[in-house]
Amino acid sequence: MKISALQKARYSYNPKLPAILREDILSIRPVEGGKTTSVSDQKQIEKLFPNTYGLPQVSFAKGGKRECGRKMNVGVILSGGQAPGGHNVICGLYDALKKANPQSTLYGFLGGPSGILEDKYIVMTDELIDAYRNTGGFDIIGSGRTKLETTEQFEICTKVCRSHGINAVVIIGGDDSNTNAAVLAEYFRAKGEKICVVGCPKTIDGDLKNECIEASFGFDTAVKTYSELIGNIERDANSARKYWHFIRLMGRSASHIALECALQTQPNICLIGEEVEAKNQSIDEITDYIATIIAKRAEAGNNFGVILVPEGLIEFVPSLKVLIREINDLLARTEQQFNALESIAQKISFVEGKLSAESKKVFDSLPEEIKGQLLADRDPHGNVQVSKIETEKLLIQTVTKRLKEMKAAGTYKGKFSAQNHFFGYEGRCAFPSNFDADYCYSLGYNAALLADFDLSGYLSSVRGLSLPADQWQAGGIPITMMMNLEQRHGEMKPVIRKALVELDGKPFRYFASQRDSWAVGTEYTFPGAIQYFGPSEVCDRTTMTLELEHSK
Ligand code: FBP
Repeated sequence: MKISALQKARYSYNPKLPAILREDILSIRPVEGGKTTSVSDQKQIEKLFPNTYGLPQVSFAKGGKRECGRKMNVGVILSGGQAPGGHNVICGLYDALKKANPQSTLYGFLGGPSGILEDKYIVMTDELIDAYRNTGGFDIIGSGRTKLETTEQFEICTKVCRSHGINAVVIIGGDDSNTNAAVLAEYFRAKGEKICVVGCPKTIDGDLKNECIEASFGFDTAVKTYSELIGNIERDANSARKYWHFIRLMGRSASHIALECALQTQPNICLIGEEVEAKNQSIDEITDYIATIIAKRAEAGNNFGVILVPEGLIEFVPSLKVLIREINDLLARTEQQFNALESIAQKISFVEGKLSAESKKVFDSLPEEIKGQLLADRDPHGNVQVSKIETEKLLIQTVTKRLKEMKAAGTYKGKFSAQNHFFGYEGRCAFPSNFDADYCYSLGYNAALLADFDLSGYLSSVRGLSLPADQWQAGGIPITMMMNLEQRHGEMKPVIRKALVELDGKPFRYFASQRDSWAVGTEYTFPGAIQYFGPSEVCDRTTMTLELEHSK
């Protein structure tokens, strides 16, 4: 197979490990911290996880040397959307397992969680692993969005694991997949099965984090990829001086990606979903905010600009949130009837006739394409797929209309021509940045140790990420510690709490202190392409979110 010059060069990159993980693997020992509790609903979570609740946090330290690590058979699963660095998690896991005991075997379940249910797998070899070192993508074994959550599925997992003698399963996924990892760990413990389950924090969205998990992997590379593109567009906008670019950025729910890209590129406007919700803003108010800045810039002769729109925005606008919830429920209730309708017009009128008066008004105010997108296929959780809703186009339409009204009223005299963009899939499989290559390799290596010490129900944790890799701390945190109860499909369920943008957090506060100046001035910054070779301050820098969050 033909490979690019960069891929070839990246094969020889040696991911940096925290100092403790560079020690002889047989001399690394877990050290227990204090017992933990869940972030809320402690009593109920404890009741649901009697065998895995309250476990201590664990960190790795140097201890007495063992003769040999356990001979392990480990199964690995990639779950959910791709995130740069997934291959390195598997490489780190493989290398650590083989180092501790060369007889150990790594099974890769194919196509996501469905791989374990269907017993579809490959056995990892040196040759295969070497072909994927420091590369983007999840194609080594593929990924999928099947949820592992029912007792029936857990029974199949038990059978499959038993048939291969698997004593640990490593699940690389986001908040939902790691919630399921915790439930599976509890199931195995309750049944007396000697199978350990370890999670790894993955998602470009950056919303799987807390004080112990400082970042999910893939976020760093994805935001750098988008920021390069945004910077290029800013230069184009400032050169041509005739377009307003509306750029929607991936991130199903939280606006971490949009916020980080704004910090890296200083656009004229960046909307933050969490702020829109906190201020109870409507699409009309967002439109006014944008139109006012466009008019201000026009007064200075600047009929151009760049606006960042988080993909999840639509679900943060309170009236749209209610509408989307109603549509989700309605489609779940009337699935067969709805799917039997042939044209999109029929589907729209079917839904219109069943909405509450308030939601019908909101739905009617939307352009036809957006109505159609709101009715498109649901994800496996029954939710609308926000990546398919073209919010940036909706805003272009509402802003165009508002500017016309302002022109008629004499409050706007500029020219307005808009371009729309959506950056999402472009960033999910990029070659991992040095940070993600190092972080992911460390997470995988660390996961092998957690498995070796039978620390089931733990999430691989590598901390101190704003410091050089050498000083990172390695260990594990009990997944139940991150849980609370939330309503899912009408029932209260234990789930990992999603980390949204904190409006009193340092990254948002810094952005808010700068945005008025970025709006009227043209203060774009151009991060350029991710650099893999060169000075450390260029190649090893992580995100501004991490820098700000951990600044004194
Ligand atoms: P995960 O939460 O599984 O990491 O996926 C994140 C994401 O990239 C979102 O940003 C986006 O909305 C979604 O996946 C798109 O999903 P799909 O790949 O199914 O189109």
